[in-house]
Amino acid sequence: MAIAGASRGIGQAMAVLLAEHGASVIGGARAADGPAPPGVRMLALDVTDASSVRAFADAAADAGADSLVHNAGVGFFAPIEHTSVADYHRVMDTNVLGLLLASQCFFPHFRRRHAAGLDSQVVTITSDVSTRTFAHGGLYTASKYAQRALTQALAHEGQPIGLRVTEIRPGMTDTHFNGHVPGTAERALHLQPLDVAQSVLHVLCAPRHVRIDEVVLHPVVQPVVF
Ligand SMILES: NC(=O)c1ccc[n+]([C@@H]2O[C@H](COP(=O)([O-])OP(=O)(O)OC[C@H]3O[C@@H](n4cnc5c(N)ncnc54)[C@H](OP(=O)(O)O)[C@@H]3O)[C@@H](O)[C@H]2O)c1
Repeated sequence: MAIAGASRGIGQAMAVLLAEHGASVIGGARAADGPAPPGVRMLALDVTDASSVRAFADAAADAGADSLVHNAGVGFFAPIEHTSVADYHRVMDTNVLGLLLASQCFFPHFRRRHAAGLDSQVVTITSDVSTRTFAHGGLYTASKYAQRALTQALAHEGQPIGLRVTEIRPGMTDTHFNGHVPGTAERALHLQPLDVAQSVLHVLCAPRHVRIDEVVLHPVVQPVVF
């Protein structure tokens, strides 16, 4: 299996958990040269760069990856009035273009697997804000709405090749997201990366006749907003 955005946070927790459950994991990130967890092979990946995504997908295909978890993402929170074109490109290129490129680079591999009688899955890590927005969240939530649309279009387009596609929508999670330092007291009751990783494991282990379209998870302390 392949994880785009596996160097820290949710993606790293997934890589560790899935490897512990016997998966052969190929992880990608820009920071890919540190020590990799057991069972995880880290490759350099910049999801904003088409040739980098192509090389990552080719390596995953050569290794026989049966699934892609697209987790790579960046945060950005500021008023629309103070959101620059550079901010727009950083967020949209990473979160939206990245998912588009990864989907299109992995699709031919999953088509070949289908022709050989094999199943494949795509899991996208979007956010609980892929269907709602708030002040100072305009650009980030726009990127997450767009990720949701791409995920759902991929589910339609993948159905003829038996591709199962799942959107996982976490709420507040204690990671390095948006420059945070994980482990501080005020984030002790947030979701932990392992909580999200366990959802991914559940999705990937579903029986082959079961497609889980969407998972939404929140820490209990996060206000209920639908
Ligand atoms: N933390 C939250 O509260 C929360 C809530 C809902 C959804 N999410 C989503 O969860 C996902 C993971 O975030 P996280 O919380 O685990 O944050 P994180 O700790 O900052 O991890 C982000 C991961 O994305 C990778 N990444 C960023 N830009 C990349 C690029 N251009 N190419 C390849 N990889 C890239 C990073 O690797 P490199 O920097 O090494 O490239 C890192 O592995 C994101 O999509 C985020 O939007 C987070």
